[in-house]
Amino acid sequence: MTAKNDLLLRVLAGEDTPRPPVWLMRQAGRILPEYRAIRSRLSGFKELVETPELACEVTLQPVDLLGVDAAILFSDILVVPEAMGLPYQLVEKVGPRFEETIGSRADLDRLHAVEPEEHLRYVMDAMRMTRSALDGRVPLIGFAGAPWTIFCYMVEGGGSKEWSKARRMLRAEPALAEDLLDRITEATIVYLNAQVAAGAQVLQLFDSWAGALDAALFERYSMPRLRRICEEVKGAPLIVFAKGAGWQLNRLASLPCAALGVDWHTPVSEARQRAPKHVLQGNMDPSVLYGTEAEVREATQRMLSDFGHGGHVANLGHGVYPDINPDRVRAFIDEVKRSGS
Ligand code: CP3
Repeated sequence: MTAKNDLLLRVLAGEDTPRPPVWLMRQAGRILPEYRAIRSRLSGFKELVETPELACEVTLQPVDLLGVDAAILFSDILVVPEAMGLPYQLVEKVGPRFEETIGSRADLDRLHAVEPEEHLRYVMDAMRMTRSALDGRVPLIGFAGAPWTIFCYMVEGGGSKEWSKARRMLRAEPALAEDLLDRITEATIVYLNAQVAAGAQVLQLFDSWAGALDAALFERYSMPRLRRICEEVKGAPLIVFAKGAGWQLNRLASLPCAALGVDWHTPVSEARQRAPKHVLQGNMDPSVLYGTEAEVREATQRMLSDFGHGGHVANLGHGVYPDINPDRVRAFIDEVKRSGS
């Protein structure tokens, strides 16, 4: 049996460790040829997400092939709107698409509450299977999208640069927006608690489009729901990653969560000033991994020294890009690991 690696759990519990743990957002899928080999045999992304044996296999790949200090369950944030009654498709080279969107009270009234063991059984089964297959080698991370980010997809029906429909709803129909955000929040709380019951040891909340909100909208629509999730989700430390909202870290620092993600736009010294008490996760620019190995190692060293010793989970400042060479990812991971020896 391999020795147990609980570095991530220890850092999130505020303990001192010889080096930071390292994992990458979007490490499962995307970059590994071994992932693409499995994916090419299937009808599509959803078949992979919805087949627990395959989701488990793909979750373990970065642990075995890259040597990361944590596994993140292979799934997607969009399974939650689907479980509420709004199915999605992943269209090749286009991205996620929702056939129906939420634009009115009548649309909203067609949504329903989420029962994870019923509507998201495949995630729960994949979580149980993966936790058991990991056998304690590294901690298992579960996740969900933050309410605002899920709201964006449910209102727009797909990706967007400006999220203008979603922001329009906040401004023009605040009561409808609040109601939808509250329903997503409740679904997210039961979903994350169910993930913990199924074996998740750490949770991450992805607020990928937090940067689309100004300070007032963020305060009114996002913060109270993030706070409620932090308070109601129990049994595992929570990492809140609000991308594009580094300038809001002073507000995010009022959340009772174990750690805050730092995106690659945010200077580490400013993040430390704004959230002095939190463990911080991040934040190398993923595009550094397009450089040479020497450049990757140098930038990783710089990131480590910027964060300083302790209170740090090494990661990129957003998800790893699909066309990055896995060897550069290995160099990033290796450099973090060497910092402790
Ligand atoms: O981190 C991991 O490796 C675990 C799995 C994971 C996926 N999506 C798998 C996936 C996680 C944590 C996510 C989160 C997610 N999904 C976010 C938040 C993180 C972020 O990047 O900001 C968002 C915004 C989504 C929505 C989504 N799902 C988009 C925009 C796409 C299109 C393509 C892409 O890769 O971003 C997806 C599909 C998706 N989710 C893929 C993977 C591996 C691509 C699937 C494939 O083509 O095989």
